[in-house]
Amino acid sequence: MSASSIASAPLKTILCGEHAVVYGYPALVTAIDLRVRVLSEPLPVGIIEVLSEGFGSWREYALNVAKLVEKRRLKHPLQYPIVAVYLTSRYIGEEPGSRVVVKSPAPDGSGLGTSAAVAAACICATAIRYGFNLTPPMIANLVQLCERFVHETPSGIDGTAVTYGGTFVYKRDEGPEFIDAKPLRLVVAFTGIKHRTADLVRRVRRLRAKNREYVDTIMAAIGEIAQEAARAAVQGDLSLLGEQLHANHLLLRQLGVSSKELDRLVETALNAGSYGAKLTGAGGGGCIIALVDEDVQYRVLASLQNVSASTWLVVTNAQGVHREDISEQ
Ligand code: PMV
Repeated sequence: MSASSIASAPLKTILCGEHAVVYGYPALVTAIDLRVRVLSEPLPVGIIEVLSEGFGSWREYALNVAKLVEKRRLKHPLQYPIVAVYLTSRYIGEEPGSRVVVKSPAPDGSGLGTSAAVAAACICATAIRYGFNLTPPMIANLVQLCERFVHETPSGIDGTAVTYGGTFVYKRDEGPEFIDAKPLRLVVAFTGIKHRTADLVRRVRRLRAKNREYVDTIMAAIGEIAQEAARAAVQGDLSLLGEQLHANHLLLRQLGVSSKELDRLVETALNAGSYGAKLTGAGGGGCIIALVDEDVQYRVLASLQNVSASTWLVVTNAQGVHREDISEQ
């Protein structure tokens, strides 16, 4: 067992297809080069502790974590990485005793898959410290187990993106199909409003119950857009991809998951010369993405900085979860 280890996992963004993916249509998803980093250190057996810049610290006896896992009831966001460490230790047959220090570039509830990335990095760092190199399918399974504590029915998108990285078309019953997409530049802008995915999924379900034909037509159109966008991403056709992103945003508005804050950010990105922009993730708050190239990236970034809580200039197709060299930190 080594003294300490570090792992990192990427955040993700849904390029096209959110909500429709819940009803079996394809979504286009990519990992971005914003990474959650986790340092794992030994503690006496039976104690798990997490330290996080934004949330402070939390210490729990492994016995209590076992009860949380059984009841699937978390009282605090910091219990989530604790559960990830606990499940990993149990999985590899070790008695848990760890401190994890978590550094995330974006808050939870922003639609960028922060919770899954935290889980993946905690799982990878913990396993490495005990001398285990878990395979990606093992990590993806453990992330999915953890995700059930946060989302009622996680689709598997976030777990796939943070574990494997890259860009893929995801269908609920078929899983991911990785595509050879060109790396894209995106400006990601956060409204500052956190969302709860389950609430928005429920909102769409209620709308569908009232007006099934209308909602199903929108879902089918979103599915077409996601396939078309995947082809544009492979060809590196930014104009076409930008059009698809914007068309997808308008359809998500019709589903009632956009907001005046999201619409304002999308409008700002378009006016500043973005190829296309849309809300990403469940909506209601969270983030937008704006497709840019080297020529317009700083203009779009500067415009969005004036009206957003946070902004990031990112590149897609990032690597999945992996070990980091501790001497370079
Ligand atoms: O906001 P996020 O990253 O939780 O994305 C939710 C995407 C949905 O399609 C709305 C739900 C899902 O499980 O796929």
